[in-house]
Amino acid sequence: MSEKENRKMKSAIYPGSFDPLTYGHINIINRGRKIFDRVVVAVAGNMSKNTTFTIDERADIIKELFRGVKGVEVVSFRGLLVNYMSRRGIRTILRGLRTFSDFEYEFQMAMGNKKLAQEVETLFMITEGEYSYISSSIIKEIVALGGSARGMVPPLVEKKLREKLRAERAAVKRGR
Ligand code: COA
Repeated sequence: MSEKENRKMKSAIYPGSFDPLTYGHINIINRGRKIFDRVVVAVAGNMSKNTTFTIDERADIIKELFRGVKGVEVVSFRGLLVNYMSRRGIRTILRGLRTFSDFEYEFQMAMGNKKLAQEVETLFMITEGEYSYISSSIIKEIVALGGSARGMVPPLVEKKLREKLRAERAAVKRGR
């Protein structure tokens, strides 16, 4: 799609590490779809975070879950978010706010992005109550310790997480 067409459609980018995607993220994507013609879910690479899944694995999971869903596009990017947005002609960032403690970090990011690109606006949605306690790290811990993440992540995510953790454990054993 050309940059001009992109601008005509009301698009928002929803960036994150998505390591892995949770129902909390899905809640934001689905509510975003009601406001924007298109929500571009953008999986970030090269972050300070040590991720469990590779950038391609994270993006593939989201693609599989949203296959055929109108108004959702899944991409991955490296480098600055605002540079990727400029290449795509997108000017709105969508982010979810879970608790008050998210605010400071989100505030810094929104201001940082604004400083880098004046035309970029960040819109926040309050994550719905039942998802406000979820984080990708909590889910990874629950699954790693043998618990069930049902209701927190889609079954596909839980399956991939179990496979990944099993493979990691096997690799550690082999290395011993
Ligand atoms: N429901 C449930 N959990 C949520 C959530 C929601 N709606 N929104 C966020 N979370 C959780 C995530 O699971 C994640 O948990 P974790 O820390 O345990 O992994 C945490 O909140 C934050 O994750 P996420 O929303 O994916 O954001 P992030 O902080 O990992 O991503 C980027 C930040 C990728 C958007 C940011 O680093 C970026 O833009 N990077 C590109 C480089 C750049 O431009 N940097 C300059 C920025 S000014």
